[in-house]
Amino acid sequence: MTPATPGAVCIVGTGAYLPARVLTNAELEKMVETSDEWIASRTGIRQRHIAAADEATSDMSAIAAQRALDAAGVEAMEVDLIVVATVTPDMPFPSTACFVQKKIGARKAFCFDIEAACSGFVYALDVGYRFLATGGAKTALIIGGEKLSSVTDWQDRTTCVLFGDGAGAVVLQTRKTGRGIIGTVAGSDGTLANLLQIPGGGSRHPSSAETIDKRLHFLKMQGNEVFKHAVRCMCDAAQQVLDRHGLKVEDVKWVIPHQANLRIIQAIAQRLGVGIERFCVNLDQVGNMSSASIPVALDEAVRAGRIQHGDLMLFVAFGGGFTWGATLLEWHHGK
Ligand code: ACO
Repeated sequence: MTPATPGAVCIVGTGAYLPARVLTNAELEKMVETSDEWIASRTGIRQRHIAAADEATSDMSAIAAQRALDAAGVEAMEVDLIVVATVTPDMPFPSTACFVQKKIGARKAFCFDIEAACSGFVYALDVGYRFLATGGAKTALIIGGEKLSSVTDWQDRTTCVLFGDGAGAVVLQTRKTGRGIIGTVAGSDGTLANLLQIPGGGSRHPSSAETIDKRLHFLKMQGNEVFKHAVRCMCDAAQQVLDRHGLKVEDVKWVIPHQANLRIIQAIAQRLGVGIERFCVNLDQVGNMSSASIPVALDEAVRAGRIQHGDLMLFVAFGGGFTWGATLLEWHHGK
C-alpha cells in the first residue's frame, strides 16, 4: 500500500454516454395504456435513451470513462482503481468494472462493482474517496452505468415509462489545494426491500422457465410508497451531511439529485429550502438511469460551464434496498 497522499480528493474529470436511440412518451403511448400528459405531469420525463440490443452496460461505461479520462488529461494506465455502480451488470460475474478495464486498457487497475441501486454512484464515490484518502489508490475511475431497458417490463405501464439507459464517470485524484470531497452520509433499510426489486435471477429465485413465466426478471416497484421514503431519506441525508461538516444549506451552490421524478426533486427543494434553480435536472431528457443519473447530470452541468471553481455541491440519492446517501464537495478546476 502506498502512503496516503496529503491533500483533497477531487473530481478532476467527468464524462458521460447516452445511447443514440431516443424513446419518446408519444412512442410509449403506442406500447402501453398511458399518455404523454400523464408521464410528463406525474414524473417530468419526456424521453429517455435506450441502448442497442448488442450494447451492454460495460460498453456505455467504457465510453463515459474514456471521456472522463480525456477531460482530466489522465492516461488509462495511470488508473489504479475502477468501481462501477450498477444494478444491470453485463453478467453476474466477472464484474462490469473488469470489462471496462479491458475496453479502456487500464491494465494496472483493480476493479469491482457496487450494487446500491439508484444510490450506487454516491456509495461508489465514497468508496473511491476512502481508497484515495488512505493511500490505497492514486487515480480512481468511479462509474455509474445502467442498461435498465434490459430489466424493464415493457408491458407494465407503472414502471416502463420511468427508466432509461446511460453511463456517467468521474476521475478522482488528490490535489494539494481546495477541499474536494468533504464527506458522505449513507444509510440503508433492508426491511423495505420488497418495495423496489428485481426478484428473479439470483440465488433466491434462480432463472428457470417458471421465473420467466412469472416475469420475475423485471423491475417491480410500489412507486407511491417509494416516493414518500425517497423524499424523507434524501432530505435527512442532505441535512446530516451539512450538519456533520458545519455547513448550511445556503452555502450550497448546486444540488445534483438522483433523477427519479421531478415531483420528488421539487419536494426536496421545498423541504430543504433551496431554490429549484440550484438543482441540476435533466430527467426530462433521460428519465431515471439509476446509478448513472448523478454522474450524467454532473457531466452535463460541468460541460455547460455551470459549475465554477470553489462551488459547494451536494449529491443526493435514493434507491432500492432501500439505500440513500448524500455527498458534499467543493468543486475543483485544474491541476
Ligand atoms: N400511465 C397512466 N396511468 C398510470 C401510469 C401510466 N404510465 N402508471 C400508473 N398509472 C395509474 C395507476 O394505475 C393509478 O391508477 P388508479 O388510481 O386507477 O389505481 C394512478 O395512475 C396513480 O398511480 P400512483 O402509482 O399512485 O402514481 P404516482 O403519482 O405515485 O406516480 C410514480 C407513480 C411516478 C412511479 C411515482 O410514485 C414515483 O416517482 N415514485 C418514486 C420512484 C423512485 O424514486 N424510485 C427510486 C429509484 S428507482 C431504483 O432504485 C431502480
